[in-house]
Amino acid sequence: MRGRRRGLLCMGVVMTLGMTSSVHAQTPASALVGPVLVNAEARAGLDLSGPWHWSVDPYRDGLAGFHGAEAGPGHRRYDEVDVDAVTREHPTALYEYDMRRSPVVHLPSSWLTHDATMRYYDGLVWYQRTFTFRKAPGQRAFLRFGAADYLTRVYLNGKPLGQHEGGFTPFAFEVTEHLRDGENQVTVGVDSTRSADSVPPTVTDWETYGGITRPVRLVSTPATYVDDAWVRLGANQRLLATVRLRGPGAGGCPVRVRIPALGLTLAGETAADGSWTGAVPEPRALKRWSPEAPTLYDVVVAAGDDTLVDRVGFRTLAVKGHDILLNGKPLFLRGISLHEEEPGRQPTRAMTPAAARALLGEVKSGLNGNFVRLAHYPHSEVMTRMADELGLLVWSEIPVYWRVNFARAETLTTARRMLAENLLRDRNRASIAFWSVANETPPGEARDAFLAQLARDVRELDDTRLVTAALLIDRVQEQGRPVMVVKDPLVRHLDVAAVNTYNGWYSDDALSSLPDIGWRNDTGKPLIFSEFGADALAGFHEPERMRKFSEEYQAEYHRQTLAMSERIPSLRGLSPWVLKDFRSPRRQHPVYQQGWNRKGLISETGQRKQAFEVLAEHYRKLAAQGR
Ligand code: GCU
Repeated sequence: MRGRRRGLLCMGVVMTLGMTSSVHAQTPASALVGPVLVNAEARAGLDLSGPWHWSVDPYRDGLAGFHGAEAGPGHRRYDEVDVDAVTREHPTALYEYDMRRSPVVHLPSSWLTHDATMRYYDGLVWYQRTFTFRKAPGQRAFLRFGAADYLTRVYLNGKPLGQHEGGFTPFAFEVTEHLRDGENQVTVGVDSTRSADSVPPTVTDWETYGGITRPVRLVSTPATYVDDAWVRLGANQRLLATVRLRGPGAGGCPVRVRIPALGLTLAGETAADGSWTGAVPEPRALKRWSPEAPTLYDVVVAAGDDTLVDRVGFRTLAVKGHDILLNGKPLFLRGISLHEEEPGRQPTRAMTPAAARALLGEVKSGLNGNFVRLAHYPHSEVMTRMADELGLLVWSEIPVYWRVNFARAETLTTARRMLAENLLRDRNRASIAFWSVANETPPGEARDAFLAQLARDVRELDDTRLVTAALLIDRVQEQGRPVMVVKDPLVRHLDVAAVNTYNGWYSDDALSSLPDIGWRNDTGKPLIFSEFGADALAGFHEPERMRKFSEEYQAEYHRQTLAMSERIPSLRGLSPWVLKDFRSPRRQHPVYQQGWNRKGLISETGQRKQAFEVLAEHYRKLAAQGR
């Protein structure tokens, strides 16, 4: 079973790694990921979104008895049992759960909105549903989760398939041999609890939306199928296609990759391990993808009995000195950051195409932006595909955030697997320009080694995009004035340096003094302001006193910070913090915050604050200057 194998694989990787990162280097990142099932949403299958039974289990009674032994029959939520029928027949039988008579909720959705008692629940929740499956000869089946936060255990017809750690990337278990022809029962235990060893660790500045937050699908493939396919423009103006087959016929299998609109076909035969890469000169007729012209092409990958179609844009990215080049031309990133949270007063992290379009439309049309930082974790594939379609460059990130346990080899394995799962899901998304490996992590020997490994993993898996990280910035006094110095040792492993800077919010600098703050970037690399921002409660106005949390203060903060940014010669992009107010348990001012981080330029209901127009005007000016 893939899941168990992966479990064993992971165990094997963890057991052999010890605490030395050098051993890590011998384990390629791609080896940490189970089946990729690239572009799985396009495959035939059964969508298991819809009604599921759910039941809380805060003391994990479904996993272990009172002295830690395996849970008994009256407690195993994943058993195939009609508890009501059994206890009618055997009145002395004791069951302290009954999934089939537990309440029902529509998934995908975080459990925070299942009912009022779940708003602050942090622990284990069980989900169960049945479905009918018709076996077809020669077909394989995979149970695929778009994401579930944080540790997920999956059982089919009472048998464990395996588990997955991480709240924001897809994972799948092969179930070909476990499915019954007819009715099947799937049970999922999702535990949102994190620890100092997790990725992210326990403390973050965003809400933990525990649960199954992205679609669950039963994906069908032929016996030998296209597990991964990556099509892109590489160096020397060549168009490359890499295909990886899995199955009994993977080796020595003919492969064809077609782009009908260009009349282009790349053809070849896989090696014994099922892999193949073909390359042709970039077709003259190819229209490159850009925010201004987000051209996408149907790409058809065929091998054996399998055919997979995706919509792919083609463009190139590079850095040259302080410039970031898109299709060979320098560009300035007119962006903003956002969390994965749909608009509304009760978000449940169920990102629909409509919600994605609404949020990204505010960036593209409202702010006249060309860039989004999808912070602080891999967002839904709905979001990255929408960015492809609307024409927004994307910064994609894994949640190596703040106080990660950098000295722990198993934590590095978790982060490496998460990174690989993210890249292998989205390598065909033209919008993605940056892979970020961290946010505001404190420099140190263990942290530098940990992140350097992640940067190497990015380059192993994807040599067409830029590696970055959101870094802390040093502030010094020189000739009586503050100077911000970019000097994180990690920068030497990055293509682009990015810093989070909050002078005037997390400091008592007068806003009028911000433009005179000095900046020094001796890294030789392009610089991005990956964060800057100030809270404001929409509708709170105090123009005369300019108090923090007023819209006027936030607007003036942005005005002055933007003026400061204009004086930094190596600056090539902005992604202010943040598009929309978002839930954060750390933000509990009873008048201004109420559990929300209010640095949004729009409120949680989409109400634009004064600062929105300040940034929009700045970006219109930059765009008019061709930046
Ligand atoms: C930090 C952090 C964000 C946080 C923000 C803030 O830079 O990266 O996750 O929300 O600051 O303080 O609002």
